[in-house]
Amino acid sequence: MPKKWFEFKKPIIALAPMADYTDQPFCLLCRKISGNDFVIFREMVSAEAIVRQNKKTLKMCKINNKERPVVIQIFGAKSETIVEAAKIIVKKFKPDGIDINMGCPVAKIAGKNMAGASLMKDTVRAAKIVKALKIAKLGVPISVKTRLGWNDKKEILKFAPILETAGADLISIHGRTKSQGYSGEVDWSMIGQAVKMVKIPVLANGNIRTVEDIKKCLDITKAAGVMIGRGAMGKPWIFREIQNLKSKIKNNKEEIKKIVLQHAKLHFEHYGERSMVTFRKHLAWYFKGDQIVELENLKDLRIKLMKINSLSELEELLKF
Ligand SMILES: Cc1cc2nc3c(=O)[nH]c(=O)nc-3n(C[C@H](O)[C@H](O)[C@H](O)COP(=O)(O)O)c2cc1C
Repeated sequence: MPKKWFEFKKPIIALAPMADYTDQPFCLLCRKISGNDFVIFREMVSAEAIVRQNKKTLKMCKINNKERPVVIQIFGAKSETIVEAAKIIVKKFKPDGIDINMGCPVAKIAGKNMAGASLMKDTVRAAKIVKALKIAKLGVPISVKTRLGWNDKKEILKFAPILETAGADLISIHGRTKSQGYSGEVDWSMIGQAVKMVKIPVLANGNIRTVEDIKKCLDITKAAGVMIGRGAMGKPWIFREIQNLKSKIKNNKEEIKKIVLQHAKLHFEHYGERSMVTFRKHLAWYFKGDQIVELENLKDLRIKLMKINSLSELEELLKF
């Protein structure tokens, strides 16, 4: 039996799934510059769209072998649809794991559709989804990503054991409630309490930006690992800093420019024409100001970067 992705090394370090960000070009870039010791969670895909064979959604699941290990995250509400989608994904793309989104707060998903964070309220439905995936024997680990609760952060203390009993192989917990969205205090100690409630590995998530944060978070939570979201945006080298593979990149202008161009080229190859318009969101993170601190006219550069339409325009702007 081959080792599961979460059995390789402890603590587990993971790139969090982020819609419109953890796509193939970004994940491939992270892997190229940050080595192999972390697992990638790709952006969520709709179970319904996969079952309908939607071309764009299927393309979102394509995996370059150099990216592995890669977990594909699915969102949906109906266990039958999720299982069917998971079967299609496993057969076509052979991911290293399937993750179910039980934490997305966006109304389109968690509203009347009863997917994402809504599954924390309908625990019977949530357990049914996990059980159905286990019964389907897909041959890959089944994990769940969730939050502390809908309104009350103690909800996770009941929800995590429900997911474990249903058969989940691992749970990632974002230390906020659905009501908090993406800001406000992250409660790592509540994640720690949830860790004590289950035997399966737990990944702690929320506000982890530096190597020091990882140490602090693991110390508080005693989790099997951590999952890093926005800390990796505009900083695909964060994983190599964690592994201490290379010295810190901060303020290394030439290296940062090289990485930005490498990312832009991968993005262009994947999305083609007009791709530089969707690349602007990444540029906003790269040039936020905390990376290249001594750059003059950063504000002007950022304004110009937000208007680029082509790779050559970007290359020109990065000649500083
Ligand atoms: C732009 C964006 C997109 C996200 N998309 C997803 C997603 O597709 N699936 C998911 O489970 N969580 C998603 N999240 C939540 C993150 O995975 C993570 O739980 C959250 O950002 C907190 O971690 P952080 O403080 O390290 O960013 C998203 C977050 C952001 C900011």
